[in-house]
Amino acid sequence: MLERISRVKNLTVHLGMLYPLVLVLGLLQVSAVHAQPSHRMLGDACAGCHGTRGHSSNPMPIIAGLPEVYLKQTLRDYKSGKRPSTIMGRVTRGYDDDQIDALAAFFASQVWISPKQEELDSKMIKRGKRIHRDGCSTCHKDNGRYQDDLVPRLAGQWRDYLEIVLEEYWLRERTMPHLFMVIAVSELEEDDLKALANFYASQR
Ligand code: HEC
Ligand code: HEC
Repeated sequence: MLERISRVKNLTVHLGMLYPLVLVLGLLQVSAVHAQPSHRMLGDACAGCHGTRGHSSNPMPIIAGLPEVYLKQTLRDYKSGKRPSTIMGRVTRGYDDDQIDALAAFFASQVWISPKQEELDSKMIKRGKRIHRDGCSTCHKDNGRYQDDLVPRLAGQWRDYLEIVLEEYWLRERTMPHLFMVIAVSELEEDDLKALANFYASQR
């Protein structure tokens, strides 16, 4: 358990190394606000981590084509601190509600592209598929391709991001506002989280 916590902490530190970049982006944001930015310009402030259209590089989550309502709510929850984060709390602080809506609309209108992922483990994929079918498929339908206002797409998301998020739920670092995710993963074992991350990452 202790080993797990320190591993998650290490990942968090790893992501936290990007803080200087956020500060630079923060400055860019301020000037952008005065210039009455287009949706597209707002989207560019996210490009360093999520790509110009939301096709992020590993381990940043892919956000292209996620549902607009989900994006709006998620960004608001980062800003208010309701959803814990290493980086996004700071990033979103620079935006008002209208700008958050514009960002959500921009990324929601992009097309999801599942990247090719290295070194997925075929045994883990099989094991993950089984756990998914038994415990996750009622909400994450169609092998994780399904999405709606509440539920984000999982199929084709970066494996490392999925693993980090599942660990956050598992360690109860990410409890509110989505208690049922904590309940869903609380019965699982450490390797189940890896298996699930491999499974969803293997989907297109
Ligand atoms: C410095 C890197 C960085 C920048 C810049 C950045 N993000 Fe993020 N983003 C992350 C990380 C890392 C996460 C995972 C949550 C966390 O730990 O902060 C994340 C998570 C997200 C999520 C949640 C995805 C999901 O599947 O639930 C959304 C939505 C998002 N970012 C949108 C944006 C938008 C919009 C911008 C531009 C205003 C932006 N991000 C700028 C790194 C970044
Ligand atoms: C009762 C419905 C429900 C069940 C069952 C469920 N989930 Fe979820 N899941 C959700 C919702 C809703 C969200 C969005 C929560 C949020 O915004 O934090 C989510 C979010 C996630 C995320 C984070 C995605 C991201 O981009 O940040 C992962 C990973 C995930 N679920 C995996 C699973 C796994 C694995 C299982 C089974 C062990 C499972 N879920 C069971 C509803 C469910």
